[in-house]
Amino acid sequence: MTPETPIRWQRKDLLGIAELSPAEIGLILDTAESFSEIGERAIKKVPTLRGKTVLNLFFEASTRTRSSFEIAEKRLSADNINFSTSGSALEKGETLIDTALNLQAMAPDLVVIRHAHPGVPHMLAKRIKAGVINAGDGAHEHPTQALLDAFTIRRHKGRLAGLKVAILGDIEHSRVVRSNIHLLNKMGAQVTIGGPRTLMPVEMEAMGVGVAYTLEDAIRDADVIMMLRVQLERQGRMAFPSVKEYFQLFGLTTARLAAAKDDVIIMHPGPMNRGTEIASEVADGPYSVILEQVTHGVSVRMAVLYLLSGLYEERS
Ligand code: CP
Repeated sequence: MTPETPIRWQRKDLLGIAELSPAEIGLILDTAESFSEIGERAIKKVPTLRGKTVLNLFFEASTRTRSSFEIAEKRLSADNINFSTSGSALEKGETLIDTALNLQAMAPDLVVIRHAHPGVPHMLAKRIKAGVINAGDGAHEHPTQALLDAFTIRRHKGRLAGLKVAILGDIEHSRVVRSNIHLLNKMGAQVTIGGPRTLMPVEMEAMGVGVAYTLEDAIRDADVIMMLRVQLERQGRMAFPSVKEYFQLFGLTTARLAAAKDDVIIMHPGPMNRGTEIASEVADGPYSVILEQVTHGVSVRMAVLYLLSGLYEERS
């Protein structure tokens, strides 16, 4: 445990990184370290959450987050139920609140929710007794992604404080960048964000980061480069003339990596658009830790589920 580790975990919900203290972030990362070894065993299962019920509510597409939560829940022996808009009463006009209250009536212990609208997990958390975990709400926050990113950086660099982290791409539509800025600032890293002006909201400088408008300026002397997906589906109209031009200006290639530190690591939350924000030679190359991020996502989500279950508090 870090020196700042709190003795007790008192939160019912994990809604965003903005509300967490550095000590709470440290506790989640340290707890994830203790769970990560389970994924290396022949029998990847412990009874920690036996008798607990987790609802996974995904109202937006997901590959990594959804399957990672499901695996984390199964590894901890929780009972889990997966729910999506297709085939639910939401299609028949039921409101999200009525759906939530009906689900609450079945007494789940935890609810994991992803929704296209910012604030939906917060609204749910106020209305139900179960702990709520935000698995991504619009362009607002994606706390477990930032936590698994921090876990991956710590594994490679041994620390977060003092590192230069460059985050590049479609800043405007990214919940990942917002959660990462909160986390990295709280933990003492130095963040620079980069991308085209048309995808750079004016309020970003107020978040306490450097802002660069060329890839080279953003990644200069970086210890960590995090590439973000260009979210064409969230753009009303394309914010740049063509994908070809975007790649020429902001696509990460091996040649361009020369501006970063020699031991830089390359990250991406996925899904990746190869040939748009990142070249395959970089995504699959020696500096890439992109698949490690996915592996660590399971340990981090096990830690979050465990801490929110109340069992840590009972045992400490
Ligand atoms: N990183 C991430 O949230 O990926 P998914 O959309 O596949 O869950």
